[in-house]
Amino acid sequence: MTKGKILVTGGAGYIGSHTAVELLNDGYEVIIIDNLSNSNRFIIDRIQKITGKKVFFHQEDLLNFAKVEQIVSAYNNIKGIIHFAAYKAVGESVEKPVLYYENNIVSLLNVLKVMTLFGIPNLVFSSSCTVYGQPDILPVTEEAPIKKALSPYGNTKQIAEEIIADTVYANKNLFSIALRYFNPIGAHESALIGELPLGIPNNLVPFVTQTAYGLREELKIFGNDYNTPDGTAIRDYIHVVDLAKAHIVALNRMISGNNKESFEIFNIGTGNGNSVMEIVNEFKNATGLDIKCNIVGRREGDIEQVWADTSLANMELGWNAKIPLREMLSSAWNWEKAYRADSKQEKEKYNLNLEHFKNLMALGFSNNGFNAEEINFLVNKAKDVGISVANWDEWMKEVSSFTFQIPQNMDEREEYLADLVHLAMVDGKVHQTEYDMCLKLADKLEIDAENLDKIIKLIEKLWKNDA
Ligand SMILES: NC(=O)c1ccc[n+]([C@@H]2O[C@H](COP(=O)([O-])OP(=O)(O)OC[C@H]3O[C@@H](n4cnc5c(N)ncnc54)[C@H](O)[C@@H]3O)[C@@H](O)[C@H]2O)c1
Repeated sequence: MTKGKILVTGGAGYIGSHTAVELLNDGYEVIIIDNLSNSNRFIIDRIQKITGKKVFFHQEDLLNFAKVEQIVSAYNNIKGIIHFAAYKAVGESVEKPVLYYENNIVSLLNVLKVMTLFGIPNLVFSSSCTVYGQPDILPVTEEAPIKKALSPYGNTKQIAEEIIADTVYANKNLFSIALRYFNPIGAHESALIGELPLGIPNNLVPFVTQTAYGLREELKIFGNDYNTPDGTAIRDYIHVVDLAKAHIVALNRMISGNNKESFEIFNIGTGNGNSVMEIVNEFKNATGLDIKCNIVGRREGDIEQVWADTSLANMELGWNAKIPLREMLSSAWNWEKAYRADSKQEKEKYNLNLEHFKNLMALGFSNNGFNAEEINFLVNKAKDVGISVANWDEWMKEVSSFTFQIPQNMDEREEYLADLVHLAMVDGKVHQTEYDMCLKLADKLEIDAENLDKIIKLIEKLWKNDA
């Protein structure tokens, strides 16, 4: 018996993936909708690996209401939705306000529409301490006045809270809890999931771990002339697993009818403020690694200091942040190391570029070649290993009408077969269905089954040694 189904939007992302793990551990079934615009498909496998449970994953854009409706209609009795999906880079939101308003607001409207349509009663919403701007009184409570947002991103969170308040007011069967997150950092103890910023990180801790790993030359500290004890900005850092657990508690509160209002708001932080310099020093203590720092000017839109008064969440939700700062930082470092090592191994395993993949598919397509299921399987695997194509449907059309000549050179032929075998591996083995697919290509390449078996054995051994 499970506790019921929860739809998690943005569940392949940083906070969503950690929350999916906690939901599964708590006995819920998890359905994820994510368009992977800021995340990776392999994270879904990792959630399943950590929990040993299945995730129902749909790669879809929440802006596409018809698709979202179709997905949700396939499940009955969804008990609640946790809505994480949003764009979150403050600086980018200043440059691209329309993109941010559209993605963050329309996705919420679509979520509220499906809730009404299918009678899904409970919503947990990802809000942010950014709604407070620079508070006049610290620690900041939920009662603090909401000031004019400093960025379009911040404004989307303010507007979203208002939209939810109006919607639950108008519909007596809807309930919601908005969690105003402070600064989530760290990663799951397994080091299988964590924060995965695309490009140069906007947040302090990924910048610190990437600098420690040698990916960045130095850590830029934005301003040391703030009115704080050491002059650097102060935030309330909370471990992402503590934050994830707050979502489960919030959902359980609504599901068991213990909420006091139809829309409630809670601060989710530790209640402690730490400066940038304190984080850098604690990272050194946690890992023994030195970080080269460079003090540069203040960053536009940054506030001086903020930390949470968490007494409402502590009292009402019975929830407390437990994981200490040092552990937050060592878990972030363990994730950075594990992720970098994995991606290096992955790349080495798949010596596959787009051109090679195109030839491989063209070979497979030709007379009596791969069937639709095999093609689907291969395209998904190629996406997983980082082959990127702007429009897969058009690309497939082009490939299916393209003839690639079988190479004369036997080594080159074996290379193509080895590429296919790599793609065919599932959990370190080539199983029967995928073996049949490899056999088809071997036949076209005039490589006999005995040689194919040798290649498979070699590659399986390679994977075993890597694991
Ligand atoms: N990380 C923070 O510091 C922080 C702080 C406060 C609030 N929040 C909020 O928490 C939520 C989750 O943040 P995160 O750090 O996990 O971000 P993230 O970018 O890692 O995760 C968001 C996920 O949503 C997906 N997504 C975005 N737009 C989508 C769309 N239109 N359709 C389908 N999927 C879409 C992305 O692919 C991504 O996987 C966001 O709403 C964010 O604003 C984050």
